[in-house]
Amino acid sequence: VARTDKMKLGLSIRRLGYHVAAWRHPETRADCGEDFECFLTSVRAAERAKFDMVFLADGLAVRAVDEPRGSLCRSNENVELEPLTLLAALAPMTKHIGLVATSSTTYNEPYHVARRYASLDHISGGRAGWNVVTSWSEMEALNFSREKHLDHNARYDRAREFVDVVTGLWDSWESGAFVRDKQSGVFYDPVKSHVLNHKGPHFQVRGPLTSSRTPQGRPVIVQAGDSEPGRELAAAHADLVYTNDYVLAAAKSYYADLKDRLARHGRVADDVKILPGFQPIVGATRQEARDKFDTLQMLIDPMTGLANLHKLLGDCSGFDLDAPLPPDAAFETSTSNARKTLELARQQNLTLRQLYQSTAGKAGIRQVIGTGADVADELEQWFLEYACDGFNICPSHMPHGIDDFAEFVVPELRRRNLFRTEYEGRTLRENLGLRPHVNRYECDG
Ligand SMILES: Cc1cc2nc3c(=O)[nH]c(=O)nc-3n(C[C@H](O)[C@H](O)[C@H](O)COP(=O)(O)O)c2cc1C
Repeated sequence: VARTDKMKLGLSIRRLGYHVAAWRHPETRADCGEDFECFLTSVRAAERAKFDMVFLADGLAVRAVDEPRGSLCRSNENVELEPLTLLAALAPMTKHIGLVATSSTTYNEPYHVARRYASLDHISGGRAGWNVVTSWSEMEALNFSREKHLDHNARYDRAREFVDVVTGLWDSWESGAFVRDKQSGVFYDPVKSHVLNHKGPHFQVRGPLTSSRTPQGRPVIVQAGDSEPGRELAAAHADLVYTNDYVLAAAKSYYADLKDRLARHGRVADDVKILPGFQPIVGATRQEARDKFDTLQMLIDPMTGLANLHKLLGDCSGFDLDAPLPPDAAFETSTSNARKTLELARQQNLTLRQLYQSTAGKAGIRQVIGTGADVADELEQWFLEYACDGFNICPSHMPHGIDDFAEFVVPELRRRNLFRTEYEGRTLRENLGLRPHVNRYECDG
């Protein structure tokens, strides 16, 4: 079926950008990862381009590890701003763009999360979104009085109940509950107030939430996590899903699978928007784009490159970076991923330096280097072939990455009638084309 809807676009900001050498680029300010003005500049650029939302990933620890030794102090992944605090500061400085932050269900309590996002929704006039994650990093456990990370199943058990409690709390007050009638002295209508009284294996939460129904009815729920329980959580609750597919066929199969699951939860395909991550490197010409990429690639510190390879191949610091790759047996790991990577690298005659440049330069995200039309071609194909409903744009370095996308790609998408020229609605939910949220108690009559 030919698509008539428009792409949804998010701007994902991670410190100075997704390229490992972003902080060393001559045109970035190395301290921008904690500088409010830098975030404001980028978010305003995204709002001028009419992006749906800005998205902040997060973790509750320094998650990068010092392997090989001496690499961590060369990484900018050590400090960052707390995302909800940052979004609350950005809210009054912006007007239309959605504000989405990540909070882990493993290392938070549901009441805290429900309250914070409800407040952000009030402050921003209906632009808040919660990216629900279960946390991938063992390091976070060590900051929360635990010696070990919860295992995958336990994390998702907790996540399911966590989201139930949060959504329950968000329905504490029906619309119109607060009459605030100065004449009669009645502040709220008690019939429209609901105590949750949740008692489950992980949480006991009485409620109600200390926040009235929010401008969006409730904040937008985003989910990121691709396993079977992750997909089920998304199908049951998410309005939006962030994915990380590289290959068109895999993205199409994920898209079809997730949309198929919705019916079992009484939902329809349009109730969830799927946005894979995408890293554009754009220039006025292909050569200019390639030069921009090469500038970043040349700045990858060898220790940072080796740290990037460490996760896959173990410690490679003893090998000659510019010689042909040592035999498979010389590497510490022999997982199928490691073998596949080495095989591919051998086919391309890569040295170790070229191998880490190729993995570190992509940051695990699908990347296209080219003109605005080249990038738009890729985005268009994925969108029209139902591999996604839009993209989570992950620029290589900020603010240039978003400026380039706005200058070269957005006009091209508009020419093709694939992206909006004006915001359609007032809230993030409206701009995403989602149905209004109906409070469960109003729904029951
Ligand atoms: C696109 C994407 C973004 C994610 N962002 C975060 C994040 O910001 N913080 C985090 O702790 N985990 C993040 N995760 C990981 C999830 O927390 C999840 O725990 C992890 O993917 C393992 O779950 P899974 O096996 O269901 O994929 C992200 C995952 C994906 C696919």
